[in-house]
Amino acid sequence: MDAAPEVSADAATDQGADTAVDAPLLPGLEGPPTFEDRNPDPRVVEVDLVASAGDAELVAGRMTRSLLYNNRTPGPTLHARVGDRVRVHFRNDLQEPTTIHWHGLRIPAEMDGNPMVQPPVMPGGTFDYEFVVRDPGTFWYHPHVNTIEQLDRGLYGAIVVHEAEPPRFTAERVFVLDDVRLDARGAIAPFASGGHDAVHGRAGNYLLTNGAAARASLTAPRGSIERWRIVNAAGSRVLTLSLQGASWRVVGTDGGLLPTAWEPSRLQVAPGQRFDLEVTLNDASGVTELLAHVLTQTDAGVQTVPRALVELRYEGDTTATPPVYPTVTLPPRAESPMLQTIRLGANTDGGLAFTINGRVHHEHAAPMERYVQGEPVRFTIINEIGPEHPFHLHGQFFQIVSRGGRDADELGLKDTVQLGPMERVVIETRFENPGRWMYHCHIPEHAEHGMMAELEVTPAP
Ligand code: C2O
Ligand code: CU
Repeated sequence: MDAAPEVSADAATDQGADTAVDAPLLPGLEGPPTFEDRNPDPRVVEVDLVASAGDAELVAGRMTRSLLYNNRTPGPTLHARVGDRVRVHFRNDLQEPTTIHWHGLRIPAEMDGNPMVQPPVMPGGTFDYEFVVRDPGTFWYHPHVNTIEQLDRGLYGAIVVHEAEPPRFTAERVFVLDDVRLDARGAIAPFASGGHDAVHGRAGNYLLTNGAAARASLTAPRGSIERWRIVNAAGSRVLTLSLQGASWRVVGTDGGLLPTAWEPSRLQVAPGQRFDLEVTLNDASGVTELLAHVLTQTDAGVQTVPRALVELRYEGDTTATPPVYPTVTLPPRAESPMLQTIRLGANTDGGLAFTINGRVHHEHAAPMERYVQGEPVRFTIINEIGPEHPFHLHGQFFQIVSRGGRDADELGLKDTVQLGPMERVVIETRFENPGRWMYHCHIPEHAEHGMMAELEVTPAP
């Protein structure tokens, strides 16, 4: 009853996953530095993680007081191979309680780092997270306490779990994307509790690529084939991306590699979502740009303006062999799944609050729905209001069945699905992972004002 993609390796490699001593090195990652692994066992990744306040150079030449993981934002990338055991010795040096949530990882519920299962780590306190990473893919970590501020001030990092026999690329890069609202002096603007932010979530006036507002300037040999792992860590901004001067294909998403790649003209990445791109750098122009198309106030009114997040120039030449992807099979749709409805709404009795199935969910006081592990359930999620919602389910993957009544072409295992205004999306999950889990809108202003509920998956009998 495991809906993880079945992976069979076609690639002829000499990588033996169980040779404990001579385990092959993981493919290198460009982007934020990876954690220092202090465990010599190649199948155990053991790291120290500290959250604290500190300065970050988000805009060149200026320091912005931020919240940091291991003194940086994004925090170090957690880099492992599927099946590895991960131990994170966490210390909270913030002035406020926090937790670490491992977004998308199917780990035991008590390690999920949400305040429903874990009392928040108090200032000066510690917690050891330990789990086995069972699924390859691109994931991320972030706090699950006062997320409106902690996430926005810089607490997030990427997680890369490699396939047992990873397809080979000329290079792999991680791009953690975000936005931040800075005032005229370069400080993070104060958090207001009403107005536009309360309705739509707070958006920033600077886009950040791996923690820097300037476009990332990169080089690669012409002829390279690279894997770009994109994480949207923004609170509320949906990123619409395009690539210029190179060809790209989407080869993976939240829950790992896809059965078949597809080529977008533009790619929408909602808060919380990830996409893996295969980028072939072989263009006459010699300059490749990753663009975000952003609504911007211009002299001609509000327009969508492309902004370069990444600019890559060729240096030298290479002839890359096309990567060989493992065969991925998604679990088939269930014939007679249990049918459920999740209505996302709002009410204004006594201030703006957000609702799931008509109720404002507070501090996990709501009664839980129960499901049995392995039982296929199809949820019709209905957005009854104007603001959009990136809907996230903890600890499980799902597939998108339909959107707006039409069969969905959004292939792959997901943990976060975007709902536009008044939109209706049908998803299907098999709840492989028992325990108590949260589901919520990934816009922290919505989640923390009522749109965050819980369910329980009881172990299969
Ligand atoms: Cu990425 Cu409950 O969160
Ligand atoms: Cu929402």
